[in-house]
Amino acid sequence: MSETSTLVTAEHFKYVAERTAREDPFLADLKQAARDAGIPPIWIAPEQASFMQILLRLARAREVIEVGTLAGYSAIAMARALPEGGRVRTIEIDTARAEFARKWAARSDVAGRVEVIQGAGREVLQKLPADSADAAFLDADKKSYPFYLEDCLRIVRRGGLIMVDNAFAFGQLFDPQPSDPDVPAVRSFNDLMSRVPELQSIIVPLGDGLWVGVKK
Ligand code: DHB
Ligand code: MG
Repeated sequence: MSETSTLVTAEHFKYVAERTAREDPFLADLKQAARDAGIPPIWIAPEQASFMQILLRLARAREVIEVGTLAGYSAIAMARALPEGGRVRTIEIDTARAEFARKWAARSDVAGRVEVIQGAGREVLQKLPADSADAAFLDADKKSYPFYLEDCLRIVRRGGLIMVDNAFAFGQLFDPQPSDPDVPAVRSFNDLMSRVPELQSIIVPLGDGLWVGVKK
């Protein structure tokens, strides 16, 4: 290890998680209902949610765009960091998942702050005006990440955030023969993201690796 960094182990991650705000019962119920509904059991880690909320508060975010709603866990988590009148617009291609997320957002503490848009990520993003969002969170199909990024570089204002999930490729980043077909797309996206001149970006090792970029 370098002179200036501690090698972070599983023990450190456990330590961090134990000292981070826990998931509330509502989000735990949402997870169980999603499992019961046959929705893929995929959500961000609670400590990742907490970190994203901190970033959104620091950025004074009011308008957030998410690509890839799934069950709505991260949309609800992000909405909790927004002020009154703030809004997460979250895009989901799958109608059943969009409906599930809409229902759960409506009965959450942030009902009215989450708008689920059913549609294809790129089609929806392309209709959004420039500088109309304070932050974006990309968490949909990994092969389309470069296109979502291009749109979000236009949509997110200067000083705003572009966060991207799964930089560690579902834990298979260094796997020579990954079982997940999206691993190569994640690797090449990581290389792309690290070179975007409009962003200062870093991978934060929470959850499955979270890209955080701020628009310069
Ligand atoms: C998968 C996708 C995600 O966005 C995630 O956070 C974890 C897993 C997947 O496609 O398997
Ligand atoms: Mg993800």
